[in-house]
Amino acid sequence: METEINSIESYKNIYQKSITNTEEFWAEVASDYEWIKPWNKVFTGSFEEANISWFNEAKLNISSNCLDKNLKENGDKTALIWEPNNPNDATIKWTYKDLYIQTCKLANGLKSLGVVKGDRVCIYMPMIPEAVASMLACARIGAIHTVVFAGFSSSALADRINDCGCKVIITADAFYRGEKKIDLKTITDEAISNCPSIEKRIIYIHSNEPLVWIHELDINYHELIENQSNECKAEAMDSEDPLFILYTSGSTGKPKGLVHTSAGYMVYVGYTFAQVFQYKSGDIHWCTADIGWITGHSYIVYGPLLNGATTVLFEGIPTYPAADRNWEIVDKHQVNIFYTAPTAIRSLLAYGESPLENKKLDSLKILGTVGEPINEEAWAWYNKHIGKDNCPIVDTWWQTETGGILISPIAGITPLKPTFATLPMPGVLPILVDEHGNTVLGNGVEGNLCIAKPWPAIARSIYGDHKRYIETYLTIYKGHYFTGDGSKRDADGYYKITGRVDDVINVSGHRIGTGEVEDAINEHSIVIESAIVAYPHDIKGQGLYAFIICNANYMDEYALTNEIKAIVADKIGAFAKPDKIQIVKNLPKTRSGKIMRRILRKIAENDDSNFGDTSTLIDSSVVESIWEKRK
Ligand code: WTA
Repeated sequence: METEINSIESYKNIYQKSITNTEEFWAEVASDYEWIKPWNKVFTGSFEEANISWFNEAKLNISSNCLDKNLKENGDKTALIWEPNNPNDATIKWTYKDLYIQTCKLANGLKSLGVVKGDRVCIYMPMIPEAVASMLACARIGAIHTVVFAGFSSSALADRINDCGCKVIITADAFYRGEKKIDLKTITDEAISNCPSIEKRIIYIHSNEPLVWIHELDINYHELIENQSNECKAEAMDSEDPLFILYTSGSTGKPKGLVHTSAGYMVYVGYTFAQVFQYKSGDIHWCTADIGWITGHSYIVYGPLLNGATTVLFEGIPTYPAADRNWEIVDKHQVNIFYTAPTAIRSLLAYGESPLENKKLDSLKILGTVGEPINEEAWAWYNKHIGKDNCPIVDTWWQTETGGILISPIAGITPLKPTFATLPMPGVLPILVDEHGNTVLGNGVEGNLCIAKPWPAIARSIYGDHKRYIETYLTIYKGHYFTGDGSKRDADGYYKITGRVDDVINVSGHRIGTGEVEDAINEHSIVIESAIVAYPHDIKGQGLYAFIICNANYMDEYALTNEIKAIVADKIGAFAKPDKIQIVKNLPKTRSGKIMRRILRKIAENDDSNFGDTSTLIDSSVVESIWEKRK
């Protein structure tokens, strides 16, 4: 069966076959990989039973598929290009051979510390090559990595480590993002003091400032790998053995550790990388996400490496030392595929065209976006000024839970529609459902987006809480996976994602749960209650608007606002700080005590045109008083 998409006809044929002969299709895709032992059944299980399993009983190792498989012909090819925060520092290039050696040495180092298959290892690292080696080293020995974005605070880090009981943490001393120094050593000191499961901390010396080592706990990364062998036999992983846990936000305050397993994730992510971006041998791929998010896992690390591609890893930010940094990097490394978030495009668009002077950008062939809906203006600017009207833009829709891209154009092959994610990947069957759970048929319709068929890279569980997994994703619309997003399907059958329909907010493409932020704010001694809603934000896409009830003796509002922001930065991370804070006397509540967020959203959006039915509120004058103050 043909699986490579190279024309619109082939997309249609492959898609049809992938839906009717799903197992045959994925078996064909999977035959491109190295298996230690073949599967006996491609797929078993169902959404109803929440027991999805792909490539049953097969044995494999994803790190060998990323490394050993490529060594044979491409050992000297560049696997990763590291661009440092400071453009005056030297770029580092690692060949596949280098990455293999670095991975094996660290894998042996981890083993020497007693890390075995199934142990959880936390990776809290800057965007440096060793972070990639750390992920691959864990995968190599069957340890489950949980990468935590280095923008999370010590308390958020500790929560994640404790939730999955990590034995080891790999971190660095410190790093710079732009001019801001992030002191990982101090942050991890604080976190680990509350993490009884941590036995060892491996510290990579990156910024070379004096450090106080903690005897018994700390190991220098360099010293750990120095005398280790260059070879480390890859563990034979069962297809459904966990590969990683990645935390993301949901409707309640407690983040969810999504569990991704070995075989299905590998096959799906490798395939979608090659198809969506139409990767051609020799292409240089740059995805600007952080490895702490799913986009970094799938399309900086695993997807490109599974395909033997060259992947760019950038430590810094697009505006340092100036707003032309991204474009300078594109020219410097002759990037062919550039994949970023709408929020980054909007923030660069705001600088106008002067950062583009003297930039060629002629190596670019394909552009991509991910993480939130893209607006027309950002799409048009990206297309005209970055793509020079000559690069297809793939608007890729997917989630931490989905592991890889589910809905997206195939670059240069399937038609684009600005602001539309367009058509599903092979094997993916999207459906729209109305509020009663009925499937909305036909085109020119709108509804809640569900996926009607399991695909190989779907997360299999929430770590330690399979019940929550079933309730969140598989119960609301029986027999379907519920995404939490709303979507339109236009007259041509193309999908346009309209945004979250639950209590998750996408701020600058970062997923933030309202419950998490409310829990943090409520820890302030004079806060009685809070409610967070989203409002449209020019750069961030969505901003956080906090309505807060305080007890009688609150001090001045300015000081309080700063304290609230500080507490959120401390409990979660600076990226989750509310943009606007309004102190209120009461919140609009129904008789059953539920906050009417619909009304708060209207107020936050500065729109009093229609507050809708307020008759179920205990006290409808509350709305008027909040609105008066808002004005
Ligand atoms: C949103 C990121 C519109 C969506 C890979 C989803 C998008 C959430 C798009 C997942 C897109 C992602 N268009 N919205 N192309 N891509 N989203 O888990 O709301 O960080 O549910 O995964 O981002 O965010 P997450």
